[in-house]
Amino acid sequence: MLYKLGLIGHPISHSLSPWIHQQFLDLAEVDGEYKLYEGDHEALPEVLKHLKEIGIDGFNVTVPYKQVIVDYLDEIDKDAEILRAVNTVVNIDGKWKGYSTDGEGYVRSLKEPYPNLLNHETTVLLLGAGGAARGIYRALMGQGVDTIDIANRSHDKAKDLLSLRLGDVNSNVLSYQEAEQQLAKYDLIVQTTSVGMKPNVEGQVIQLDQINKDAVVSDIVYQPITTQLLHDASERGANIHHGHAMLLYQGQLAFEKWTGKNLDVAHLVDKLENKLRG
Ligand code: ATR
Repeated sequence: MLYKLGLIGHPISHSLSPWIHQQFLDLAEVDGEYKLYEGDHEALPEVLKHLKEIGIDGFNVTVPYKQVIVDYLDEIDKDAEILRAVNTVVNIDGKWKGYSTDGEGYVRSLKEPYPNLLNHETTVLLLGAGGAARGIYRALMGQGVDTIDIANRSHDKAKDLLSLRLGDVNSNVLSYQEAEQQLAKYDLIVQTTSVGMKPNVEGQVIQLDQINKDAVVSDIVYQPITTQLLHDASERGANIHHGHAMLLYQGQLAFEKWTGKNLDVAHLVDKLENKLRG
């Protein structure tokens, strides 16, 4: 069978997804194609009609359509519904079902190098409260983590995340300054804002002076590969986790939903890093 896969979004011409999914197709030794279906808001209904007509097996959804895509689905996974965002659509016997693989992809990428990190004793600090933070919050909770504090520039947005009642966890909303002062108590610090991303690579949302050296600092930004925050964490002797690994594993999860193949992709993390370094 030839898998017809792809991505919708705008703009997407620089997306790494075609490269990533070609790696997966090769690894799985199946025939398939992963194409970019770009279109602005006005073009979206036509783009989706085309995907229906060709009988696409599955596609990813990126900015700015992660929410509007819901209107075109036949079914939505419970997590994606709670998170109000869909990044993966699967064609099941002609019906489109939407999922969110961001949070789970993040957790898989983290467990690969740190298999014993996540449990009910793990104390997590989440930096940021946007769409990415929501998915990660929910997925960490699914791993039994029961303390996830949220630090964000806007207090209200962090409160909004809590008001979604994503689960039964202990969460305090903190300012970045408060988070810095109590940093020593966290085992995992997850940076989900766009601060530090190219071209403004100089920023970091918190200073790490009080960091616990056994902690893992994770940054979902992958351009640059090593953000200033991760560089700082390394210099202080803490453990780090790079954002490009999340990108790879959320793709792996989507690929699994489309093809039923659960691939071992750990060796592709370095290959993706080399690709990103150009
Ligand atoms: P995403 O879906 O990528 O998470 P988002 O929903 O727009 O994007 O969320 C962006 C996050 O980055 C928010 O936590 C935002 O903080 P505010 O809620 O205070 O706006 C954070 N963010 C973006 N730019 C920032 C900056 N310059 N300084 C601090 N936080 C920033």
